[in-house]
Amino acid sequence: MSKRVLITGITGQDGSYLAEFLLAQGYDVHGMVRRSSTEGFDRIRHIRSRITLHQADLLDQLSIVRLLDAIRPDEVYNLAAMSFVPTSWEQPLLTGEFTALGVTRMLEAIRQVDLGIRFYQASSSEMFGAVREEPQNENTRFWPRSPYGVAKVYGHWITVNYRESFGIFACSGILFNHESPRRGKEFVTRKVTDAVARIKLGLQDKLYLGNLDAMRDWGFAGDYVRAMWMMLQQEKPDDYVIATGEKHSVRELVETAFSYVGMDWRHHVEIDPKLIRPAEVCTLRGDAAKARRVLGWHPQVSFTQLVQMMVDADLEAVRREVADTAH
Ligand code: NAP
Ligand code: GDD
Repeated sequence: MSKRVLITGITGQDGSYLAEFLLAQGYDVHGMVRRSSTEGFDRIRHIRSRITLHQADLLDQLSIVRLLDAIRPDEVYNLAAMSFVPTSWEQPLLTGEFTALGVTRMLEAIRQVDLGIRFYQASSSEMFGAVREEPQNENTRFWPRSPYGVAKVYGHWITVNYRESFGIFACSGILFNHESPRRGKEFVTRKVTDAVARIKLGLQDKLYLGNLDAMRDWGFAGDYVRAMWMMLQQEKPDDYVIATGEKHSVRELVETAFSYVGMDWRHHVEIDPKLIRPAEVCTLRGDAAKARRVLGWHPQVSFTQLVQMMVDADLEAVRREVADTAH
């Protein structure tokens, strides 16, 4: 019989790639979605008929317990969270409810329904914040710099704690930034590639950005969801850093994206001081040696391939948008 899985955050970037990946592995895929007055299922429209969606909310303990009891999954991937760092300063309490306490609610549901369910927690390199060493690995001290980062530290430690307290097969994947054509448009990579497409096609002239000196270790989301699954297939639960080991600045990202379509970014990019964060994570670069050694995981898409893939996808999306408006 095929294994059953529940993905929270299935409508998000990672949820959609993970659902595709698990369908290809022969899983019976279930997704948790929160109630909304309109359906935001764009990223999973192409697989909608092959997955089962259920309404529940990270804020509602009973809804999660009932869901787990009804589905009885073998594996749970907890990807749902308020994931945009700037919003976490505007809505710090809600961020704590979703991104921190939401993890405890998932783990409590497992504790109540079936201690044998394997659990993946979507932890983040934002936990390293004001980095204490470079590159960052599983033993690097956390120093989060945003309410989002603080909430993720809580989520990480409660996952470790439920593993140690109740023997749950719970893994925390400390993933560095990962992107794709399905990335939300407020994140810097997609904001840049979408703007490059619009500027190239004559629909926009300027792109306003914040800190061009920030550096990130950017990988491809499709590669990273594979690592999540690998963690849950091991004999023992553990925590893993997933990263490319390379870092690039926002300025390099911008140069790479604009030059790919033959444009000079300096004619189009302007700084908007409102986009500078109250506390910045200036640099991140991960050391995924443990994941390579234990899981046999390697990223397959390079930084340049990633940026070009995203620009190509946005050129196509914007062309389609223009054609649709013309009709
Ligand atoms: P994303 O695109 O923003 O997706 C977030 C998902 O969470 C969406 O499906 C959203 O549903 C859902 N969600 C939010 N609040 C919820 C609630 N109260 N109840 C139920 N569902 C809720 O994020 P992503 O990039 O795929 O990231 C997935 C996870 O990995 C997140 O936890 C993120 O913090 C973490 N992470 C991401 C990265 C990265 O670089 N992408 C790196 C490290 C860690 P709606 O569609 O209803 O909004
Ligand atoms: N979003 C955004 N918009 N970021 C900008 C801009 C801009 O206009 N200009 C410069 N940046 C800089 C930010 O200051 C930050 O240093 C960097 O670009 C990356 O910002 P984001 O793409 O918003 O991602 P993030 O690193 O803050 O957070 C993402 O990665 C985390 C893992 O490290 C999110 O996916 C988090 O959910 C994830 O945990």
